[in-house]
Formats: sequence, C-alpha cells, structure tokens
Amino acid sequence: MPLVKVENLVKHFPVRMNFIKALFTRERKKVHAVNGVNFSIEEGETLGLVGESGSGKTTMGRLVLRLEEPTKGRIFFAGREITSLSAEEMRRLRREMQIIFQDPLASLNPYMRIGEAIRHPLVIHGIGENKRKQREMVLEMLERVNLRPAEEFYNRFPRQLSGGQRQRVVIARALITRPKFVVADEAVAMLDVSVRSQLLKLMVDLKREFNLTYLFITHDLATTKYICNRIAVMYLGRIVEEGSFRDIYTDPLHPYTKALISAVPEPDPKAMERKKKLIPEGEVPNPIDPPSGCPFHPRCPYVKEVCRTVPPELKEYSGDRKVACYLYD
Ligand SMILES: Nc1ncnc2c1ncn2[C@@H]1O[C@H](COP(=O)(O)OP(=O)(O)O)[C@@H](O)[C@H]1O
Ligand SMILES: [Mg+2]
Repeated sequence: MPLVKVENLVKHFPVRMNFIKALFTRERKKVHAVNGVNFSIEEGETLGLVGESGSGKTTMGRLVLRLEEPTKGRIFFAGREITSLSAEEMRRLRREMQIIFQDPLASLNPYMRIGEAIRHPLVIHGIGENKRKQREMVLEMLERVNLRPAEEFYNRFPRQLSGGQRQRVVIARALITRPKFVVADEAVAMLDVSVRSQLLKLMVDLKREFNLTYLFITHDLATTKYICNRIAVMYLGRIVEEGSFRDIYTDPLHPYTKALISAVPEPDPKAMERKKKLIPEGEVPNPIDPPSGCPFHPRCPYVKEVCRTVPPELKEYSGDRKVACYLYD
C-alpha cells in the first residue's frame, strides 16, 4: 500500500477579472494549474516532481497536503481517503505530513527565537509533557540538523543565521512532530551550490533516520540526483513521464524530458554541444489557455497530427515506467 496516492487530481483557479469586465462577459476564465494527475509514493521512497516554473508543482504539493482544495480528484494518505476530511481532522493529521518551502526567511517569524519556532508545533499538537521536556526535544533536534552548540542556537533569531542554517531550522521544525511524509518544495533552490549539497545530504540522512517519505519538488533536475528514487516530470499541469531516477536520466522517453536532461550541465563540452540541439524552441504556454491535445505539442520536434487534438494518456511503457506520448504507442 502506498503511503500517498492521488487520483485524477485537478485544480483550476479562477482568473481575477475587474468588475466591469466581469459584468460583460459570461465566460469565466480559469488557470489550469493541475490537470488530471495520478501518482503514488511508497513508504520510504522519494518521488521527485520536476518541471519548469509554472507547470503546477507547488499547487500539486499543496493539494496533497490539502493546503489547497482540489477542483476534482481524490487524495489518500496511509490507505485512508483524506479528500473531504474536516479542518479539525486535517489539523490532527498535519503532524504526520509537513512541508518545507523554498525561502526559510519567509517561513520563519523574525521575532521568534529559533528554539521557540521549532518548539511551536509541539505546543500546537500537544506533544511533550511540559515546556522543559519540549525544550529538550528541540535541543536534540538542533543537534541532529547540525546547529551546534544547540543551546546557543536555541536563543538566536533568524536574521543571525546564514541561509543554510535557516533552512536547517525549517527542516528541524518540520521534523519535530515526527511526520511520516514531507513535501519539500524547492527546499534547496535558494542556497549556494556548496550549501545545497550539504542540505541534500542532511535530508537524505534524516530520511533514513526518521523513516521519511518525500515528495521532492524542484525545477532543477540536477538536484534530484542525490535524493530521488523515482521521478515524475510535469508539464502544464500534467505528468508526461514517470520512472526510476536512473531510467529518466540515462534514457528519457518524452521529448520534454529529453529537453530537460539536455539542459543539465555536462562536464564534457562535446557532449554538451550534442545535447544543446535538443532544447526545444518556444516558451511554456499559458495555463489559462492551454494548448489542445498534448500540452507539449507547440514545442515538440516530433509533433504529429494527433498530438494537436487528443491529449495522450500516461501509459505504462515497461515495468515501472510511464510516458504520455504518441511516439510510444
Ligand atoms: N492561488 C492562485 N491563483 C491563481 N493562479 C494560481 C494560484 N496559484 C498558482 N497559480 C497558477 O497556477 C500555475 C501553476 O503554478 P505553480 O503550482 O506555482 O507552478 P510551479 O510550482 O511549477 O512553478 C501558474 O500559472 C500559476 O500562476
Ligand atoms: Mg513552485
């Protein structure tokens, strides 16, 4: 049984219109942020959700945790459907499912000492007998994310920390309730390359230690290398390909995945030159008015007639690989 599963998940946002325009038009435009997504994540696995900015990754992550209400579709956690749980039931479940965002400064209260910020979820969920016990738990967690001496870090404010240290605080706060599932949304995107690899290593270590399952969201395929078992490639609200990290990397099937892989820097300049030719022309189309048929067809070098009209389904290609492309029918 997968720990997390979503079925036909759809999220459309209304497009804001000014009052006068709204009066004279009957058409209500929508942003098709997530357009019928299916995936599941086994316990202990890390699924990477990869795609360019605007492809719907953040919305997807928020839907899974029900921080966003789906327009359609179902969400399961540990075998239980959570799509229509009440706010109170969700609040209790939140201790088992956490999210880490891109910008640690924005997710920390500047006036709260970091020890207190990490202790806060314990208070909210009533974990730990008393304040002294909670403080001990926080100190232990600070040690665990390498913020030492923990006593000293406990009393510091976010602005007194580096970007990497702040993200360690955010991770500590997310893990203090001992969640089973963590959504990491561009969690290392804002950090320098050297700090990034340290943080990724920490996330891998913590995953093993706390038996975590991750949904690792990133626009940068290169960062999935250290952490992801499996990768789902998202384009304009749809998953276009899914497979093991190794398969996606060494033998991408979907023309969009091929393009993404080709954009990952290559140490050998000759190989880089060969790769460059694969990058497709054009930009990500607007999700307010997504193309008919395959969402990638306007940029695809292999486009056929059928691609313009009927969206290809995400189908099994072999073993645990899936692809949504008529090239593989
Ligand atoms: N609250 C919202 N209201 C309206 N449109 C939104 C909202 N959140 C996201 N969108 C739109 O949905 C699309 C997908 O956004 P997002 O999920 O943030 O993608 P990603 O994380 O891959 O960059 C974008 O076009 C974005 O502008
Ligand atoms: Mg995002």
